[in-house]
Amino acid sequence: MLLEVKDLRTYFHMPNGTVIKAVEGVNFTLKKGKVLGIIGESGSGKSVTSRAIMQIVDKPGRIESGEVIFKGENLLEKNDREMSRIRGQQISLIFQDPNTSFNPYMTIGAQLRQAYRVHKKKATKQECEDAVRDALKLVGINNWEEVCKCYPCQFSAGFRQRIFIGMAMIFKPDLLIADEPTTSLGITIQAEIIQALNDIKEKVGNSVIIITHDFGVVSQFADDIFVMYAGRCVEYAPKRDLLVAPRHPYTVGLLRSVPLLEARKTKRLKSIPGFPPDMANPPKGCPFAIRCDHAQPKCFEEQPELVHISEDRLVACHYPLMDYETSQDTQLD
Ligand SMILES: Nc1ncnc2c1ncn2[C@@H]1O[C@H](COP(=O)(O)OP(=O)(O)OP(=O)(O)O)[C@@H](O)[C@H]1O
Ligand SMILES: [Mg+2]
Repeated sequence: MLLEVKDLRTYFHMPNGTVIKAVEGVNFTLKKGKVLGIIGESGSGKSVTSRAIMQIVDKPGRIESGEVIFKGENLLEKNDREMSRIRGQQISLIFQDPNTSFNPYMTIGAQLRQAYRVHKKKATKQECEDAVRDALKLVGINNWEEVCKCYPCQFSAGFRQRIFIGMAMIFKPDLLIADEPTTSLGITIQAEIIQALNDIKEKVGNSVIIITHDFGVVSQFADDIFVMYAGRCVEYAPKRDLLVAPRHPYTVGLLRSVPLLEARKTKRLKSIPGFPPDMANPPKGCPFAIRCDHAQPKCFEEQPELVHISEDRLVACHYPLMDYETSQDTQLD
């Protein structure tokens, strides 16, 4: 197992005294070389989860409890120096917006060399050059020498994101976390970026966590999918099982509201009525109950635990939809 996240909780302690429970008990595992997709509506805690794994939660956020076991060691017990060595070299994070990832006044080459020197202070010029070349070639940029002489603004957003992924992979980390890496890009560029991530995985053998709103993205790329709602995992399953036979009513709602790319062209989207709960004041029972067509009195009283419904599937629901299958229009392939 490469990564095991156990009962992770991260709260924001606001100056006015309210406590926003952004991540409220997240559990998942990730094997070496596998891709985990995390999907959920805006505000469900996807980014905070990924930042907590790397221990870069913004103030006033605080990791309250849990374990992040990476290669057998709990990252939450590491000090700042140890963590800064792990970040970048063993775990890298790429963000949604490639525009803010680069310094506009430095050439691409200078920025990649700088990224390499953060951890390899004594590297020779040649070592630096080799690392930059390998990183750019890894993302399919063969005219790397020319690209290195240019400034970020000389490239399209999609190409910049590709360069940024190369930079994040400069030390060939075992884990790449991609937080909505395609959200601000068009559909064709999205497909290119996913292809680049796939190629990297083939060559390097790294694991990937891909965070997205979009089932199209996870359906192409993920092995397993983890559905997040109100700071928790509500369903975890191998991709195909989750897309064809979702068990949590929230997953069903999400699949109906964001169908796969093909279906999107013909079908009108149905959004899930209502809103996620206020995380400063979460409800007593299941956080989805108030929006759920299948809710029973128990759902408003008792919080469902995340439990196995088969060997490789987990669901947090008192009444999972055991017979449900998605219709053709939302199915895979
Ligand atoms: N710096 C912060 N201060 C206060 N609250 C925050 C901060 N960052 C995140 N939160 C809260 O944590 C919750 C989870 O946010 P997060 O950014 O993880 O959502 P997300 O699932 O990544 O959403 P999106 O899909 O929009 O990126 C939200 O309710 C948000 O308001
Ligand atoms: Mg986010």
